[in-house]
Amino acid sequence: MSATIIVVGAGQAAAAFAAKLRELQPERPITLVGDEPELPYQRPPLSKKYMTGEMSLDRLLLRPAEWYDEHHIECRTSVTVDSIDREDKMVVLSDETVLKYDKLIIATGATPRRLAPAAGGELAGVYALRTLADADAMAHEFKPGRKLLVVGGGYIGLEAAAVAATLGVEVTVVEMAPRILQRVAAAETSDYFRALHRSRGVTVTESASLIRLAGDNGRVARAEFADGSALDIDFALVGIGVTPNVALAEEADLAVGNGIEVGLDCRTSDPDIFAAGDCASFKFRGQRIRLESVQNAIEQAEAAAHVIAGQKVEYKSVPWFWSDQYDVKLQIAGFNLGYDSTVVRPGIREGQQSVWYFAGKEFLAVDAMNDPRAYMMGKRLLEAGHDPAKSITPEQAADPDFDLKSLL
Ligand code: FAD
Ligand code: APR
Repeated sequence: MSATIIVVGAGQAAAAFAAKLRELQPERPITLVGDEPELPYQRPPLSKKYMTGEMSLDRLLLRPAEWYDEHHIECRTSVTVDSIDREDKMVVLSDETVLKYDKLIIATGATPRRLAPAAGGELAGVYALRTLADADAMAHEFKPGRKLLVVGGGYIGLEAAAVAATLGVEVTVVEMAPRILQRVAAAETSDYFRALHRSRGVTVTESASLIRLAGDNGRVARAEFADGSALDIDFALVGIGVTPNVALAEEADLAVGNGIEVGLDCRTSDPDIFAAGDCASFKFRGQRIRLESVQNAIEQAEAAAHVIAGQKVEYKSVPWFWSDQYDVKLQIAGFNLGYDSTVVRPGIREGQQSVWYFAGKEFLAVDAMNDPRAYMMGKRLLEAGHDPAKSITPEQAADPDFDLKSLL
């Protein structure tokens, strides 16, 4: 019997790892240890169809409970891994169990940043959104006519704002940066989503300086701003980014820099320990980055499984991401890090548009709004790599009459 593989965390990356390793090595013992009560589930619907009530709990699970039994994958839920002993190759759990490992995968994800207690971050009625428990805790607040303040105009905040507005909640989004989505997208994409939200009655305020959320009897009641203004609210959702869960790795003296450092084979600085998903950072265009996405979690986890099964695989693929807001589906192919110019390609139908990112002449990424064709073409061009015959110029991308397919 070969020695056990332990996965710390039972989320998106953990589930993908277990499935891939089981496919490659039918007999290898695998144990997932997760601190949430549920078996691995998908988080994206938490700010989309689960939040609107259109998706049931059982559809959130990545695999049904029987699947783990049938595939001999042990899942320990509601248990935290408290420490890693690299010398003796074992982990200590919060229920005091000690488990020996042969290989360890850290897939601990990330934790939402919160407002400080002095800024009202701990008042009742102030929510973060990462887990099913978070989503369930705030569900009762989404009633017509109630006033929601969304702090942070990233994907989480904007998706939640869209759901709330659709359910008849009065929504204000306050973004600290000069524009929403500044961290992840070009100004044209921000402009598109600002206009979309405003058209649905959402107040979007950028360059906002929220000083604090203030409360009555411990429950949030208003937001106070640096210019002296205040806004009465019934509840608040804070979506101001996440920090990777690296404490375990740091305590175990693994290399950590903007996440647990891994190579393209998803190995950490310890050859028997791998990391995948939101907690892991890797080199990309000369920088150490993390990609907070389902696709990255799955592909890194699968790469780690291949390496553990003795195959030579390197994690490198075209990143992709999506967001749903109202009836708009945003699809992103590529990663725009380092872009120096963008062009907008108008779509055929109203509301259809894509934004193409370039560094010099190199095409980096595309944001496609309700334009699956632009997304598909962008992705295929990126997958074709650096073949100059297949690269697209900004002029071609901007010309709606230019047939993208002709490049492939
Ligand atoms: P997670 O799925 O977070 O899993 C990590 C698990 O490890 C968690 O259960 C955590 O509690 C547990 N854990 C942490 N420490 C320990 C410990 N010491 N012991 C035991 N367990 C531990 N991505 C997209 O691509 N598209 C989207 O549209 C999209 N929408 C999103 C919407 C929401 C509301 C959220 C929250 C995320 C969204 N994401 C989206 C991001 C995506 O869900 C994450 O990138 C993905 O879940 C990362 O997977 P992971 O396995 O690294 O982490
Ligand atoms: N007040 C207002 N806005 C703030 C504040 C603040 N105090 N602090 C940060 N922000 C803004 C940032 O400028 C940024 O635009 O909040 C936004 C947070 O956006 P992201 O960093 O993209 O994070 P978030 O939307 O919380 O999403 C977290 O969930 O959907 C996943 O994969 C997605 O990784 C992302 C994660």
